[in-house]
Amino acid sequence: MRGIFITMEGPDGSGKSTQAKRLFEYLRGKGYNVVLTREPGGTSVGEQIRNILLNPDNSELGFKTEVLLYAASRAQHLEEVIIPALKEGKTVISDRFVDSSIAYQGYGRSLNLPLVVEINRLVVENYMPDLTILLDLPVEVGLERIRKKQKSMDRLEQEAISFHEQVYHGFKKLAFNEKRIKTVSADGSEDMIFAHIVKMVEEKLKEVNLIV
Ligand SMILES: Nc1ncnc2c1ncn2[C@@H]1O[C@H](COP(=O)(O)OP(=O)(O)OP(=O)(O)O)[C@@H](O)[C@H]1O
Ligand SMILES: [Mg+2]
Repeated sequence: MRGIFITMEGPDGSGKSTQAKRLFEYLRGKGYNVVLTREPGGTSVGEQIRNILLNPDNSELGFKTEVLLYAASRAQHLEEVIIPALKEGKTVISDRFVDSSIAYQGYGRSLNLPLVVEINRLVVENYMPDLTILLDLPVEVGLERIRKKQKSMDRLEQEAISFHEQVYHGFKKLAFNEKRIKTVSADGSEDMIFAHIVKMVEEKLKEVNLIV
């Protein structure tokens, strides 16, 4: 038996971490064996890579280096955390995964999109998520939430608004093309958004006969 793999995606400040945590607790409360993890990071090596990626001092970091570092963090994450958990029949919730690379590095950086897709295909192989929740929020609203919450912005958050708009467009395009991705409006109360997410997750669990 293989567990179900759920990822949370969306622009900065759209509520991914808030909702991922809620979903984790909800499913655990229902008796599922759940693992909550995040990217970049999720492992000791991955968290070290995360520090390089998010440190605003690393302004010289090249675009290709950035793509490869995200992919390296993901490879380690899959090998050490995600694949073993799924093989044990656990449900895995990852706060960001491959779609973030496509949106941020592929669309946001206007890098060679097929290159970003190909590198990630090699890393992810057949471990694409079963369900991806895309939290849909206007870029400005998300950034404003972050400004309110944090004293400083990380290397990616500090990018120009045009970059964030391209990332947003990338996410929308991915959702349009892929059935796996379910879009949830993230412009509302946390409870309302969560209810919508639970509906999507329960539909998926029913589909794979994993309702407890
Ligand atoms: N529905 C909501 N309405 C208003 N504020 C919210 C809502 N959901 C989360 N927030 C707040 O917005 C901020 C960003 O939320 P959160 O950290 O969950 O987003 P994120 O998508 O994980 O952000 P990041 O991209 O920085 O990781 C937090 O201060 C959080 O408390
Ligand atoms: Mg977060």
